[in-house]
Amino acid sequence: MKKPINVGIIGYGSCGRLHAEAIQKLSSIFFLVAIADIDSVAAPEGARIYSDYRELLADPGVDAISICTYPNLHYEQTLAALNSEIYRDVLVEKPPVLEVGQCRELGNLALTRGVVLYFAHHTSMIPPVAAARQLLAGREVVGIEALYMDNALGWHSPDKWIFKVSTAGGGVLMDCGINIMSAVMGVLPEARFTPTRVKVSSAPSVDVETQAEVDFSFGTRGSGHLTMDWEYPKNIRRIRFTTSDGETVTIDIVRGRLYCDGRVAFGFENSDNNLSMEYPLVYQDFADHIARRESNTNTQPLRFILDTYNKIKDR
Ligand SMILES: NC(=O)c1ccc[n+]([C@@H]2O[C@H](COP(=O)([O-])OP(=O)(O)OC[C@H]3O[C@@H](n4cnc5c(N)ncnc54)[C@H](O)[C@@H]3O)[C@@H](O)[C@H]2O)c1
Repeated sequence: MKKPINVGIIGYGSCGRLHAEAIQKLSSIFFLVAIADIDSVAAPEGARIYSDYRELLADPGVDAISICTYPNLHYEQTLAALNSEIYRDVLVEKPPVLEVGQCRELGNLALTRGVVLYFAHHTSMIPPVAAARQLLAGREVVGIEALYMDNALGWHSPDKWIFKVSTAGGGVLMDCGINIMSAVMGVLPEARFTPTRVKVSSAPSVDVETQAEVDFSFGTRGSGHLTMDWEYPKNIRRIRFTTSDGETVTIDIVRGRLYCDGRVAFGFENSDNNLSMEYPLVYQDFADHIARRESNTNTQPLRFILDTYNKIKDR
């Protein structure tokens, strides 16, 4: 039997714990051996715990690193992980970094070092995305309507890092827009998306945008609209694709379902929180990339979000 890949997680907050759960579910492939967090956190059973991520990087028992800290730390920590004396594959949470040039630099470094660098976009991993990609292959999509609405402002204290530009790199667009656009791009991998009009507003208690309306174009004649809201009482995460012959294919991300002209065409589980279902799929994909020795440094979702921010500045 093949030896499991020993993983060290940097940043053991909400997302780090989702990673630990996923690693446990894929126990024949991965094993969690260490975590690093600046806060005192309860380490999962058997895992070594470090307060400085550089100590984790010096641990010879760690084969792969998962970076689950705030977005503004991803670049520095990924760079350190790729440059460390021990050659290791590295997974980075979304948004991978906050500048496209940094993605390129990290991708080139991984190539030079011969290690796998994997940018995790969990929403693009859900099975309805792959099912929609198959259904729409070879057909012309002319319209997209994407909604991402929840009550993040009600759930979290205004001090949370996601409400600060310095730590998150933006607001609802950077934190959630990247998720929904990674799913859109997962369905139409060949298309290039360009924001054409952007309107944002902010709740008074925080310094980032909490609502956004984005028009975008794609392909030769496609147009789409993205609506995002962090002050909505319910969870709605939905993408509707309209083909040139008028058919609609809709992904309901919250329920994990795919509808074709309103009828359920595919469902993987009816759940209100599919994050714990998404992360084993992320780790399976990471394992597949490791087996093929192939990086996944897809910058398209980040590029689109940065283009929307540039559009706001241009106004
Ligand atoms: N929370 C989610 O549901 C979720 C889902 C998908 C992706 N993500 C992504 O995961 C990342 C982390 O988000 P989160 O929600 O887990 O945040 P969080 O605040 O819950 O956890 C972040 C953790 O990083 C630790 N940390 C901060 N600085 C550190 C350092 N220098 N070294 C080591 N640890 C450090 C913090 O103490 C904290 O425990 C973000 O990029 C986010 O976009 C989060």
